[in-house]
Amino acid sequence: MNNISVFPESFLWGGATAANQYEGAWNIDGKKASTADMMTGGTHTIPRRITKHIEEGVHYPSHEAVDFYHHYKEDIRLFAEMGFRSFRMSIAWSRIFPNGDDITPNEAGLQFYDNVFNELKKYNIEPIVTISHYEAPFALTEKFNAWASREMIECYVRYCETIFTRYQDVVKYWITFNEINSLIVPAGAYIAGALLVDDSGIFNNTAVDSTQLRFQALHHQFVASAKAVKLAHEINPAFQMGCMINYSHGYGSTCKPEDMLKALRMDQVNNMLSSDVQVRGEYPDFARRYFEENNIHIEMAEEDEAILKQGCVDFYSFSYYKSHVVGTRPEGDETQGNVFGGFKNPYLKANDWGWQIDPIGLRYVLNHVYDRYCIPMMVVENGLGAVDVVEEDGSINDTYRIDFLRDHIEQMREAVRDGVNLIGYTAWGCIDIVSASTGEMAKRYGFIHVDKDNEGNGTLKRSKKQSFHWYKQVIESNGENL
Ligand code: BG6
Repeated sequence: MNNISVFPESFLWGGATAANQYEGAWNIDGKKASTADMMTGGTHTIPRRITKHIEEGVHYPSHEAVDFYHHYKEDIRLFAEMGFRSFRMSIAWSRIFPNGDDITPNEAGLQFYDNVFNELKKYNIEPIVTISHYEAPFALTEKFNAWASREMIECYVRYCETIFTRYQDVVKYWITFNEINSLIVPAGAYIAGALLVDDSGIFNNTAVDSTQLRFQALHHQFVASAKAVKLAHEINPAFQMGCMINYSHGYGSTCKPEDMLKALRMDQVNNMLSSDVQVRGEYPDFARRYFEENNIHIEMAEEDEAILKQGCVDFYSFSYYKSHVVGTRPEGDETQGNVFGGFKNPYLKANDWGWQIDPIGLRYVLNHVYDRYCIPMMVVENGLGAVDVVEEDGSINDTYRIDFLRDHIEQMREAVRDGVNLIGYTAWGCIDIVSASTGEMAKRYGFIHVDKDNEGNGTLKRSKKQSFHWYKQVIESNGENL
């Protein structure tokens, strides 16, 4: 038993990135600004700002990012050296349709991804492609207030049709929207490229503070996702289509029934509502009461119910970084996270950005979600954001990152033994990229270091960290040698 790997032989080990945090070349070869290109750099304590125009002298981290656009061959070669079997990446919508509603796609943009997919193929690395990862063409956002408008659905579906047709022989796994449930909270709505102004037309440069509008935008994304899934299956029945949830796992702060109930309600609304719609093709029953109590009225077209039913995804994917607790806690005991926060858990430690580290929580979530849907699952983001030190001899001894990943992979292995049908794991930011929440470079996740700092200075030179060699052996042993 011990010699046989717990993970299936076909397990998709790999790494994950997103175009706006990785590619750079924000206005090259026909590409125009995306929502992410209008976000300034920030820090742990200073939020990123959204600007309506590019301000002179201000640092916009996505503009160059770490320049995958010109380094893709070198980076993919390094991924191959680690033994990657998969690579999760996103396509920048504004590289294909620079304004979002153009009549014809931008050939240079399509060509770039042809090159990337060909390079991946050379090494037998399976692409897992996110169609919209926290960005949309900025012009659409200005024109329609983005996903507040139904018009976005048609633009998105046209974009999908273009890329499904073009890449039908080289891409099998697609994810319609990154962390679709992020729209539920104000800060998530802009960062997700979903909204620019609130329902009174007010532009606030860090968040969109209208629950009604956020849920309406989310509904439009559900419909767009379902249409894309249906279309994808028509274009190529072998396509595997996935949802992607920002899983914010919250334990009840005590075993007091009220605390446990609060944790359940939060799990339903923050996590399950979105995946219920995408996996089962309909809103869950608990949504009715939630909408009533929060005065949310979703405008639906007559055909929406049928569309949602016809566009159920084939697999469930999610990001998992941290957990928190929900219920009665003293004020000031809050903890942080990517989009969703909560209270601190006295049993857990946190990283420098206050994200609490909870490997067992990953096993819990895998079991919890699989029990509900019984469809294949993928962990498409997981990792430790940390400050790395480059030693004098150039080495980077990121043992803390190895510990984090080892502990999480061990729990994944337990979940597989529990019976969960887990088909892949792509570690987040497998090469150092820009942080989505803060815009920093100092918050690093990679196995590969990139020489660049928070202000945008650096040679962009790639070098291997200690974790690079460790992850290589993990993949070689199919997750046995941790
Ligand atoms: C997820 C996003 O929420 O968390 C990624 O999908 C993001 O885009 C990742 O980078 C980690 O968050 P951060 O803020 O540390 O980059």
